[in-house]
Amino acid sequence: MSYSFSMLCKNVVVPLFLIGLVTLLCVANAKPATFLQDFHVTWSDSHIKQLDGGMGIQLLLDQNSGCGFASKNKYLFGRVSMKIKLVPGDSAGTVTAFYMNSDTDNVRDELDFEFLGNRSGQPYSVQTNVYAHGKGDKEQRINLWFDPSADFHSYSILWNHRHVVFSVDDVPIRVYKNNEAKGLPYPKFQPMGIYSTLWEADDWATRGGLEKIDWNKAPFYAYYKDFDIEGCPAPGPSACASNPTNWWEGSSYQQLDSVAARRYRWVRMNHMVYDYCTDKQRNPVTPPECLDGI
Ligand SMILES: *[C@@H]1O[C@H](CO)[C@@H](O)[C@H](O)[C@H]1NC(C)=O
Repeated sequence: MSYSFSMLCKNVVVPLFLIGLVTLLCVANAKPATFLQDFHVTWSDSHIKQLDGGMGIQLLLDQNSGCGFASKNKYLFGRVSMKIKLVPGDSAGTVTAFYMNSDTDNVRDELDFEFLGNRSGQPYSVQTNVYAHGKGDKEQRINLWFDPSADFHSYSILWNHRHVVFSVDDVPIRVYKNNEAKGLPYPKFQPMGIYSTLWEADDWATRGGLEKIDWNKAPFYAYYKDFDIEGCPAPGPSACASNPTNWWEGSSYQQLDSVAARRYRWVRMNHMVYDYCTDKQRNPVTPPECLDGI
Protein backbone atom coordinates (compact mmCIF):
# COMPACT_ATOMS: atom_id res chain seq x y z
CA MET A 1 0.00 0.00 0.00
CA SER A 2 1.59 3.23 -1.09
CA TYR A 3 0.61 4.97 2.10
CA SER A 4 2.66 2.88 4.51
CA PHE A 5 5.71 2.74 2.28
CA SER A 6 5.71 6.50 1.95
CA MET A 7 5.58 6.84 5.71
CA LEU A 8 8.68 4.71 5.98
CA CYS A 9 10.52 6.61 3.28
CA LYS A 10 9.96 9.97 4.81
CA ASN A 11 10.33 9.22 8.49
CA VAL A 12 13.54 7.29 8.51
CA VAL A 13 13.78 6.55 12.20
CA VAL A 14 14.80 2.99 11.65
CA PRO A 15 17.40 0.69 13.23
CA LEU A 16 20.47 0.31 11.04
CA PHE A 17 19.83 -3.32 10.14
CA LEU A 18 16.47 -2.35 8.65
CA ILE A 19 17.83 0.31 6.32
CA GLY A 20 18.43 -2.15 3.51
CA LEU A 21 14.84 -3.30 3.73
CA VAL A 22 13.52 0.25 3.86
CA THR A 23 15.58 1.14 0.81
CA LEU A 24 14.02 -1.79 -1.02
CA LEU A 25 10.54 -0.69 -0.03
CA CYS A 26 11.25 2.89 -1.05
CA VAL A 27 12.53 1.78 -4.41
CA ALA A 28 9.45 -0.39 -4.84
CA ASN A 29 7.35 2.66 -4.07
CA ALA A 30 9.23 4.98 -6.40
CA LYS A 31 6.91 3.84 -9.17
CA PRO A 32 3.72 5.93 -9.22
CA ALA A 33 0.45 4.11 -8.74
CA THR A 34 -1.54 2.89 -11.70
CA PHE A 35 -4.92 4.46 -12.27
CA LEU A 36 -6.90 1.40 -11.20
CA GLN A 37 -4.94 0.90 -7.98
CA ASP A 38 -6.35 4.07 -6.48
CA PHE A 39 -9.23 5.20 -8.72
CA HIS A 40 -12.34 4.08 -10.54
CA VAL A 41 -14.46 5.60 -13.29
CA THR A 42 -17.56 7.39 -12.00
CA TRP A 43 -18.95 8.92 -15.17
CA SER A 44 -18.97 7.58 -18.73
CA ASP A 45 -16.64 4.62 -18.93
CA SER A 46 -16.63 4.91 -22.72
CA HIS A 47 -14.95 8.33 -22.49
CA ILE A 48 -12.00 7.25 -20.33
CA LYS A 49 -9.18 5.24 -21.82
CA GLN A 50 -6.21 3.76 -20.01
CA LEU A 51 -2.81 4.34 -21.51
CA ASP A 52 0.58 2.80 -20.89
CA GLY A 53 -0.77 -0.23 -19.03
CA GLY A 54 -2.81 1.96 -16.72
CA MET A 55 -0.01 4.36 -15.83
CA GLY A 56 -1.90 7.14 -17.55
CA ILE A 57 -5.39 7.91 -18.77
CA GLN A 58 -7.13 9.93 -21.44
CA LEU A 59 -10.38 11.77 -20.74
CA LEU A 60 -12.66 12.69 -23.61
CA LEU A 61 -15.41 15.29 -23.92
CA ASP A 62 -17.78 15.31 -26.86
CA GLN A 63 -21.34 16.44 -27.46
CA ASN A 64 -22.66 13.23 -25.90
CA SER A 65 -20.82 13.38 -22.62
CA GLY A 66 -17.94 14.41 -20.46
CA CYS A 67 -16.47 11.94 -17.98
CA GLY A 68 -14.99 11.61 -14.54
CA PHE A 69 -13.20 9.43 -12.01
CA ALA A 70 -12.80 9.23 -8.25
CA SER A 71 -10.51 7.65 -5.69
CA LYS A 72 -11.59 4.37 -4.16
CA ASN A 73 -10.73 5.62 -0.67
CA LYS A 74 -11.23 8.83 1.18
CA TYR A 75 -8.32 10.40 3.03
CA LEU A 76 -7.89 12.60 6.07
CA PHE A 77 -4.85 14.88 5.61
CA GLY A 78 -1.94 14.20 3.31
CA ARG A 79 -0.89 15.21 -0.15
CA VAL A 80 -2.42 14.37 -3.50
CA SER A 81 -0.73 15.11 -6.78
CA MET A 82 -1.12 14.18 -10.41
CA LYS A 83 0.30 15.30 -13.70
CA ILE A 84 -2.20 16.67 -16.18
CA LYS A 85 -1.95 17.78 -19.79
CA LEU A 86 -4.97 19.90 -20.51
CA VAL A 87 -7.18 20.22 -23.60
CA PRO A 88 -5.11 21.98 -26.30
CA GLY A 89 -6.01 24.61 -28.84
CA ASP A 90 -9.46 26.11 -28.72
CA SER A 91 -10.60 24.82 -25.33
CA ALA A 92 -13.01 27.65 -24.49
CA GLY A 93 -16.02 26.42 -22.52
CA THR A 94 -14.31 23.22 -21.32
CA VAL A 95 -13.56 22.71 -17.65
CA THR A 96 -11.17 20.13 -16.28
CA ALA A 97 -11.56 19.78 -12.53
CA PHE A 98 -9.39 18.12 -9.92
CA TYR A 99 -10.75 18.32 -6.40
CA MET A 100 -11.22 16.74 -3.00
CA ASN A 101 -14.67 16.45 -1.52
CA SER A 102 -16.09 14.98 1.67
CA ASP A 103 -19.39 14.15 -0.08
CA THR A 104 -21.37 15.25 2.95
CA ASP A 105 -24.02 17.53 1.40
CA ASN A 106 -24.53 20.63 3.48
CA VAL A 107 -21.53 20.34 5.77
CA ARG A 108 -19.24 19.40 2.97
CA ASP A 109 -15.54 20.14 2.88
CA GLU A 110 -14.10 20.64 -0.56
CA LEU A 111 -10.81 21.75 -2.12
CA ASP A 112 -11.06 22.62 -5.81
CA PHE A 113 -8.82 23.13 -8.77
CA GLU A 114 -10.75 24.02 -11.92
CA PHE A 115 -8.96 24.58 -15.21
CA LEU A 116 -10.95 26.86 -17.46
CA GLY A 117 -10.17 26.55 -21.16
CA ASN A 118 -9.81 29.50 -23.50
CA ARG A 119 -9.73 30.42 -27.16
CA SER A 120 -6.48 29.41 -28.91
CA GLY A 121 -3.60 31.54 -27.78
CA GLN A 122 -5.42 32.96 -24.74
CA PRO A 123 -4.28 31.94 -21.29
CA TYR A 124 -5.83 29.06 -19.37
CA SER A 125 -7.23 30.11 -16.00
CA VAL A 126 -7.08 28.07 -12.83
CA GLN A 127 -9.84 28.68 -10.36
CA THR A 128 -9.44 27.46 -6.79
CA ASN A 129 -12.08 27.31 -4.11
CA VAL A 130 -12.31 26.04 -0.55
CA TYR A 131 -15.39 24.82 1.32
CA ALA A 132 -15.08 24.36 5.05
CA HIS A 133 -18.10 22.85 6.78
CA GLY A 134 -20.44 23.82 3.98
CA LYS A 135 -19.21 27.37 3.55
CA GLY A 136 -17.61 28.05 0.14
CA ASP A 137 -17.68 31.17 -2.03
CA LYS A 138 -13.93 31.62 -1.80
CA GLU A 139 -12.99 31.65 -5.46
CA GLN A 140 -9.65 32.85 -6.68
CA ARG A 141 -8.40 32.76 -10.26
CA ILE A 142 -4.98 32.97 -11.78
CA ASN A 143 -3.94 32.86 -15.42
CA LEU A 144 -1.23 30.28 -15.97
CA TRP A 145 2.22 31.50 -17.01
CA PHE A 146 2.74 28.56 -19.39
CA ASP A 147 0.66 26.59 -21.86
CA PRO A 148 -0.67 23.68 -19.75
CA SER A 149 -1.71 21.77 -22.85
CA ALA A 150 1.79 21.64 -24.33
CA ASP A 151 3.11 19.29 -21.67
CA PHE A 152 2.35 17.55 -18.40
CA HIS A 153 2.55 19.67 -15.26
CA SER A 154 1.99 18.57 -11.71
CA TYR A 155 -0.94 19.84 -9.67
CA SER A 156 -1.07 19.09 -5.98
CA ILE A 157 -3.00 19.68 -2.80
CA LEU A 158 -1.16 19.48 0.52
CA TRP A 159 -3.53 19.29 3.46
CA ASN A 160 -2.37 19.24 7.06
CA HIS A 161 -3.58 20.61 10.40
CA ARG A 162 -2.03 24.01 9.71
CA HIS A 163 -3.01 24.84 6.15
CA VAL A 164 -4.03 23.70 2.69
CA VAL A 165 -1.60 24.51 -0.12
CA PHE A 166 -2.54 24.28 -3.80
CA SER A 167 0.54 24.06 -6.01
CA VAL A 168 1.28 24.07 -9.72
CA ASP A 169 4.60 22.30 -10.25
CA ASP A 170 6.50 23.60 -7.21
CA VAL A 171 4.77 26.96 -7.15
CA PRO A 172 2.12 27.55 -4.48
CA ILE A 173 -0.86 29.35 -6.00
CA ARG A 174 -3.21 29.28 -3.02
CA VAL A 175 -2.83 28.86 0.71
CA TYR A 176 -5.80 28.43 3.00
CA LYS A 177 -4.76 28.66 6.62
CA ASN A 178 -6.30 27.06 9.67
CA ASN A 179 -7.93 30.04 11.35
CA GLU A 180 -9.88 28.17 13.99
CA ALA A 181 -8.31 30.56 16.51
CA LYS A 182 -10.39 33.28 14.83
CA GLY A 183 -13.48 31.08 15.00
CA LEU A 184 -13.38 30.10 11.32
CA PRO A 185 -14.12 26.55 10.22
CA TYR A 186 -11.26 24.44 8.91
CA PRO A 187 -11.60 21.11 7.09
CA LYS A 188 -10.29 18.72 9.68
CA PHE A 189 -12.93 16.22 10.70
CA GLN A 190 -14.11 14.72 7.45
CA PRO A 191 -12.08 12.55 5.12
CA MET A 192 -12.25 13.57 1.49
CA GLY A 193 -12.24 11.62 -1.75
CA ILE A 194 -10.28 12.72 -4.82
CA TYR A 195 -12.20 13.48 -7.97
CA SER A 196 -11.62 14.62 -11.50
CA THR A 197 -13.95 15.48 -14.36
CA LEU A 198 -13.82 16.90 -17.86
CA TRP A 199 -17.04 18.65 -18.82
CA GLU A 200 -18.66 21.51 -20.64
CA ALA A 201 -19.51 24.68 -18.73
CA ASP A 202 -19.68 27.36 -21.38
CA ASP A 203 -22.41 29.19 -19.49
CA TRP A 204 -19.79 30.54 -17.04
CA ALA A 205 -16.27 29.25 -17.56
CA THR A 206 -14.59 31.37 -20.21
CA ARG A 207 -14.80 35.14 -19.87
CA GLY A 208 -17.82 34.68 -17.67
CA GLY A 209 -19.70 32.63 -20.30
CA LEU A 210 -19.16 34.99 -23.23
CA GLU A 211 -16.99 32.46 -25.06
CA LYS A 212 -18.93 29.36 -26.10
CA ILE A 213 -17.59 25.89 -26.71
CA ASP A 214 -16.87 25.17 -30.38
CA TRP A 215 -18.15 21.64 -30.93
CA ASN A 216 -16.48 21.59 -34.35
CA LYS A 217 -13.24 21.18 -32.38
CA ALA A 218 -14.56 18.15 -30.46
CA PRO A 219 -13.63 15.65 -29.22
CA PHE A 220 -11.59 17.36 -26.51
CA TYR A 221 -8.92 15.38 -24.70
CA ALA A 222 -7.10 15.75 -21.38
CA TYR A 223 -4.34 13.40 -20.18
CA TYR A 224 -3.33 12.31 -16.69
CA LYS A 225 -0.42 10.39 -15.23
CA ASP A 226 1.76 10.00 -12.12
CA PHE A 227 -1.06 9.61 -9.65
CA ASP A 228 0.28 10.01 -6.13
CA ILE A 229 -1.79 9.88 -2.99
CA GLU A 230 -0.13 9.98 0.39
CA GLY A 231 -2.48 10.32 3.29
CA CYS A 232 -4.50 8.56 5.95
CA PRO A 233 -7.07 6.36 4.26
CA ALA A 234 -10.50 6.31 5.82
CA PRO A 235 -11.84 4.16 7.16
CA GLY A 236 -8.41 3.22 8.44
CA PRO A 237 -6.34 3.32 11.60
CA SER A 238 -7.94 6.21 13.46
CA ALA A 239 -4.64 7.22 15.03
CA CYS A 240 -3.16 7.94 11.61
CA ALA A 241 -4.71 11.35 10.95
CA SER A 242 -3.62 12.77 14.29
CA ASN A 243 -0.12 11.31 14.17
CA PRO A 244 2.27 14.28 14.29
CA THR A 245 5.05 12.24 12.67
CA ASN A 246 3.22 12.00 9.33
CA TRP A 247 5.64 13.67 6.93
CA TRP A 248 3.04 16.19 5.71
CA GLU A 249 2.73 17.49 9.28
CA GLY A 250 6.50 18.02 9.55
CA SER A 251 7.90 21.42 10.43
CA SER A 252 8.91 22.21 6.85
CA TYR A 253 5.28 21.70 5.79
CA GLN A 254 3.80 23.91 8.49
CA GLN A 255 4.39 27.06 6.50
CA LEU A 256 5.86 28.04 3.15
CA ASP A 257 9.65 28.24 3.20
CA SER A 258 11.23 31.43 1.91
CA VAL A 259 11.56 30.20 -1.69
CA ALA A 260 7.95 29.02 -1.80
CA ALA A 261 6.73 32.24 -0.18
CA ARG A 262 8.56 34.28 -2.79
CA ARG A 263 7.01 32.24 -5.62
CA TYR A 264 3.58 32.58 -4.05
CA ARG A 265 3.94 36.36 -3.90
CA TRP A 266 5.08 36.38 -7.53
CA VAL A 267 1.93 34.49 -8.58
CA ARG A 268 -0.32 36.80 -6.63
CA MET A 269 1.33 39.95 -7.96
CA ASN A 270 1.62 38.90 -11.59
CA HIS A 271 -0.95 36.25 -12.38
CA MET A 272 -3.98 36.69 -10.18
CA VAL A 273 -7.04 37.78 -12.15
CA TYR A 274 -9.78 37.34 -9.56
CA ASP A 275 -9.87 37.24 -5.77
CA TYR A 276 -13.09 36.99 -3.75
CA CYS A 277 -11.19 38.76 -0.96
CA THR A 278 -11.09 42.01 -2.93
CA ASP A 279 -14.47 41.67 -4.68
CA LYS A 280 -16.27 44.47 -2.87
CA GLN A 281 -19.56 43.73 -4.63
CA ARG A 282 -19.72 40.26 -3.23
CA ASN A 283 -17.92 41.05 0.01
CA PRO A 284 -18.40 44.65 1.16
CA VAL A 285 -16.67 43.58 4.36
CA THR A 286 -13.39 41.79 3.76
CA PRO A 287 -13.76 38.14 4.90
CA PRO A 288 -11.65 37.57 8.03
CA GLU A 289 -9.46 34.86 6.51
CA CYS A 290 -8.35 37.40 3.88
CA LEU A 291 -6.62 39.57 6.47
CA ASP A 292 -3.82 37.04 7.02
CA GLY A 293 -1.26 38.24 4.57
CA ILE A 294 1.01 35.61 3.12
C1 LIG B 1 -9.16 33.96 -21.43
O1 LIG B 1 -8.49 34.98 -22.12
C2 LIG B 1 -8.93 36.29 -21.78
C3 LIG B 1 -8.22 37.27 -22.68
O2 LIG B 1 -6.83 37.17 -22.55
C4 LIG B 1 -8.66 36.54 -20.30
O3 LIG B 1 -9.18 37.80 -19.93
C5 LIG B 1 -9.30 35.45 -19.44
O4 LIG B 1 -8.91 35.61 -18.09
C6 LIG B 1 -8.88 34.07 -19.93
N1 LIG B 1 -9.48 32.98 -19.16
C7 LIG B 1 -10.79 32.73 -19.05
C8 LIG B 1 -11.14 31.49 -18.33
O5 LIG B 1 -11.68 33.43 -19.50
